[in-house]
Amino acid sequence: MPKIVTLPGDGIGPEVTAAAVQVLREVAPDLTFEEHAIGGAAYDAHGDPFPQRTRDALRDVDAVLLGTVGGAQNSPWNSLARPMRPESGLLALRKALGCYANLRPVRVQPGLEHLSPLKPELARGVDILIVRELLGGVYFDGDRKLDGDTAYNTMRYTTPEVERVAKMAFWAAEQRKGRVTSVDKANVLEVSELWRRDVQALRDREYRSIHLNHEYVDSVAMLIVSDPSRYDVIVTENLFGDILSDLAAVIPGSLGLMPSASLGDGAGLFEPIHGSAPDIAGKGVANPAAAIMSAAMLLRHGLGRSDAANQIERAVALALREEPTRDLGGKADTKTFTHAVMEAIGTPVG
Ligand code: NAD
Ligand code: IPM
Ligand code: MN
Repeated sequence: MPKIVTLPGDGIGPEVTAAAVQVLREVAPDLTFEEHAIGGAAYDAHGDPFPQRTRDALRDVDAVLLGTVGGAQNSPWNSLARPMRPESGLLALRKALGCYANLRPVRVQPGLEHLSPLKPELARGVDILIVRELLGGVYFDGDRKLDGDTAYNTMRYTTPEVERVAKMAFWAAEQRKGRVTSVDKANVLEVSELWRRDVQALRDREYRSIHLNHEYVDSVAMLIVSDPSRYDVIVTENLFGDILSDLAAVIPGSLGLMPSASLGDGAGLFEPIHGSAPDIAGKGVANPAAAIMSAAMLLRHGLGRSDAANQIERAVALALREEPTRDLGGKADTKTFTHAVMEAIGTPVG
């Protein structure tokens, strides 16, 4: 009986996580669920955005399903010392799990091109995997300070950090079209020079069958939306991957269609890429598809159950056709959409 820890978090997190758990229970009745606190909700309840009792629950966990963390711009959480803020809880969780590779698929399913704001001929067939480094760069481990009228952060990487995430990207590309685009800013940044050198050297040493190219992040920001089909796997550092993946959400049509899997040393972490959406939180209208598809990734990458994962993804595609949510120009609220997914799970394939 695999143990899943759920961390609903803040804003729409609890709403979309409840939908994902409902779907998981349907396709995998043997899973056990244990809910714990993270983010602002955890700070309010326990004085810590990543409390000890949540940490303890991860010791024997098989996979973690996270909602979202963070408050609105005027939230009192944003005035706390940085380590106490909701987002710091999430970063500490990622670190504690050792999840260094964040897989963010960007896919336009057949028949769902109309949900994209791009021309149908551009959106059709898009299937990109963004592999975002998740435990390094400017987010972690470098000098950082805000002092009067001066502030700095440090973007820092080591060769082992670059190689482990690049290996994940090459491994993923081997199961796909065999193409990897490494994204950096090597024309300006030393840290990108190291990144580019190490990714290329690893390819030349161990992954000769992979077609690798290097592109600058500013150019990719344009090309990923104007010619998305040019990409198979994209591998990039933490901050570039954060920004490019929100941008790439334009391709399927919403942040609400962007799931993720964070993999590394131990149990995986599965979460939508979107935030807590304070503007719609509590209204019951959030699109739970990203959370539900993250649950599918949990089954595939966390538990090795690809059939159940495929079953969920097929049901989500059907539900998006029948009952699109408001972020996609439709009318369905969270409950209606989730109901449509549950119905689609019950319908025979074909
Ligand atoms: P956001 O992703 O929460 O929202 C951006 C826009 O997308 C909003 O208009 C929102 O309503 C919409 N949106 C997002 N997810 C949606 C969904 N599932 N269905 C329908 N609409 C959706 O980004 P933001 O407003 O910049 O950030 C809000 C808070 O979330 C901040 O505190 C931020 O730090 C936090 N955040 C957390 C995570 C995370 O938990 N992984 C990710 C990003 C931002
Ligand atoms: C994401 C979020 C987080 C990040 C924040 C909330 C720490 O934007 O998961 O994409 O920057 O990684
Ligand atoms: Mn982000």
